[in-house]
Amino acid sequence: MAPTLLWCSIFTAFLAVSATSLVKDSLPEAPSGWAELQHAQLSPSRGLNLRFGLAQPGFSRLESLLQNISNPSHPDYGNHLSKEQVHDLSKPSNNALELVEGWLATHNASSVKWSASKDTVTAVLPVFSAEEMLSTRFGVFEHLKSGNRVVRTLSYSLPQDLVPHIEFIHPTTAFFDPLRHGMGKFFSGDEVVPSSHLEKRPVALNQSDFTSCVSVVDPPCVRRLYNIGNYTPAIVDGSNRIGVAGYLDIWARPESLKLYLNDYIPESIGSNYTMEIVNITGPFTVNSFSDEGNLDTQLAIQVAYPIPMTYYSTNSVPPYIPDQNQDGELPGVNEPYLDFIDYLLGLDEPPTVITTSYGDDEQTVPQDYANAVCQGFAKLGARGVSILFSTGDQGLGVDDLPTCIANTGNNATTFLPVFPASCPYVTSVGETEGLFPQTATFASGAGFSYYFDRPSYQDAAVSAYLNGSANSDETALQSSMYNHQGRAYPDISCIGGGAFFDYFFNRWDLSGGTSAAVPTAAGIVALLNDWRLRHGKPTMGFLNPFLYSAGLAGLVDITDGFVNGCEQPGFNATKGWDPASGLGFFDFEKLQSLVL
Ligand SMILES: *[C@@H]1O[C@H](CO)[C@@H](O)[C@H](O)[C@H]1NC(C)=O
Ligand SMILES: *[C@@H]1O[C@H](CO)[C@@H](O)[C@H](O)[C@H]1NC(C)=O
Ligand SMILES: *[C@@H]1O[C@H](CO)[C@@H](O)[C@H](O)[C@H]1NC(C)=O
Ligand SMILES: *[C@@H]1O[C@H](CO)[C@@H](O)[C@H](O)[C@H]1NC(C)=O
Ligand SMILES: *[C@@H]1O[C@H](CO)[C@@H](O)[C@H](O)[C@H]1NC(C)=O
Ligand SMILES: *[C@@H]1O[C@H](CO)[C@@H](O)[C@H](O)[C@H]1NC(C)=O
Ligand SMILES: *[C@@H]1O[C@H](CO)[C@@H](O)[C@H](O)[C@H]1NC(C)=O
Ligand SMILES: *[C@@H]1O[C@H](CO)[C@@H](O)[C@H](O)[C@H]1NC(C)=O
Repeated sequence: MAPTLLWCSIFTAFLAVSATSLVKDSLPEAPSGWAELQHAQLSPSRGLNLRFGLAQPGFSRLESLLQNISNPSHPDYGNHLSKEQVHDLSKPSNNALELVEGWLATHNASSVKWSASKDTVTAVLPVFSAEEMLSTRFGVFEHLKSGNRVVRTLSYSLPQDLVPHIEFIHPTTAFFDPLRHGMGKFFSGDEVVPSSHLEKRPVALNQSDFTSCVSVVDPPCVRRLYNIGNYTPAIVDGSNRIGVAGYLDIWARPESLKLYLNDYIPESIGSNYTMEIVNITGPFTVNSFSDEGNLDTQLAIQVAYPIPMTYYSTNSVPPYIPDQNQDGELPGVNEPYLDFIDYLLGLDEPPTVITTSYGDDEQTVPQDYANAVCQGFAKLGARGVSILFSTGDQGLGVDDLPTCIANTGNNATTFLPVFPASCPYVTSVGETEGLFPQTATFASGAGFSYYFDRPSYQDAAVSAYLNGSANSDETALQSSMYNHQGRAYPDISCIGGGAFFDYFFNRWDLSGGTSAAVPTAAGIVALLNDWRLRHGKPTMGFLNPFLYSAGLAGLVDITDGFVNGCEQPGFNATKGWDPASGLGFFDFEKLQSLVL
């Protein structure tokens, strides 16, 4: 064993028995795929960007309110909370605020920035201060496959008086996989398109080469599949708005959207319709290899035009202090969900539905941080926002069993759930393929969370599946590879298989996967919101309690196909909820009467 490692474990043991500080989080070893660079010199004055999450005593009340607001048989259904109400319920105690403010000041924190409700604070701290505050040692870790380097620790502690008040400090023990971290498509197909390749594509598509719902999934096909008819939205004043989330420096081009609209939405020609763009963390260097942002915005509007749409781009780390040593991480690898959530919670009129095609393996996201992000989605739900996430395109886990390994130190064989799809406060959207009938697809992300318990709204549906005949041949190995009590996903699935065209720069691109399914679903949710607003009712908000109860009658069950992964037989689609297709997909006309 290397002397440094030995020193490290003695040090950790010492922390555990220290009277003044308590271990807050600790990993048994560097997660698989990562190694600490033992000889890297981390300059003590190097700035670390840290985010501190404070305990929110009002959250359980918010959770209870959300349960009532989103339950269609409750008298409070649709009584969404205001910005001020959510802020009040997110506030830490005054005592906690004072303690944390004092703690940061004593350690010379700079660029201190509190969120609007003061539930989190970001600050820049020199490495030596952060090490003192958290009784730890930071090191440089390398992701072996990508060569990406980050400054992290395997364990950190809190002074005893702060323990009840701090929920998480990020990114201390967070080791996201920079290669997996990303789109619903998880960089599988032609996600990363070299631009030389792109230039060879035809500029225009000859539409007569394709037949709707036979060789292409286009807006008329989506209308047919989901029984949307020629429904046209009427509420276009901004009270109904589609939000498209963008991360990883990926850009959505208004010029590309225009080309898409010209081809598919004849009414848009000559209009001044365009999407609004908000750079939440400021301008950034655009990643011009990924088409994700264009795909997401174009498919989100395909049946929802002319509902207003905003592309929210949340990128790199805000205050970044570069160091002389090239020892640290590059901007852009931190997890920006909380910046996005804070921004939206600060709006008087947030978008009414948000589509997101990004995710990480749940086990690479520290649990306390995942919890805070998931609480953020609950708050947005309470504001009346429907949050849709793709489940990714890796089925129950990447193909081969040897890669389906728990990070918990025991190397247990396991399926690999994806976060935020695994958060009970989002609607997670899987992918179907085939038309008339649609079937489940083996690669559509699915699973059972290890972090979040099964929420009551899906308990009956999921336990019926697990106890039922569709799952009766499961092997003992498969049965040991998931958390039977965990939050199960997807909730619904939408068309993602088949060819979808979208514009990337000024050329056609061909896409699919859950990255296509989730914006398509979000556009239809926007139509339901339009229908409710037209009838003087508030927007749908958090969808799941409705979908698993009154909404069931407006969904078309998918009973064919299966999902697998990790070389296991996987799960079969069947009548009712199943991990292969969730509850199925929308029948818009039936849902119209059910949502009023
Ligand atoms: C939610 O509804 C239940 C039943 O109607 C009620 O008893 C409870 O007080 C409500 N919760 C909140 C936080 O208002
Ligand atoms: C904080 O800054 C002051 C003044 O620059 C300095 O004297 C002090 O040593 C610093 N304290 C810590 C904990 O870094
Ligand atoms: C499109 O294809 C049809 C049939 O294949 C052909 O007649 C037509 O000329 C093509 N149009 C263009 C603009 O290439
Ligand atoms: C777009 O056109 C409509 C009327 O056609 C007008 O009311 C609106 O202000 C225009 N919007 C912009 C951004 O120019
Ligand atoms: C957002 O950032 C992009 C990329 O840096 C830039 O092209 C664009 O002008 C910015 N937009 C706004 C409104 O700041
Ligand atoms: C887990 O696997 C890693 C990498 O193969 C190995 O270094 C480690 O010793 C294993 N841990 C256990 C508890 O088997
Ligand atoms: C499924 O089985 C579990 C344990 O065997 C039981 O507690 C639960 O009630 C059953 N659920 C249904 C819907 O049959
Ligand atoms: C799924 O269905 C197939 C074909 O009917 C069957 O062979 C398999 O055992 C089923 N899987 C489970 C887990 O029950």
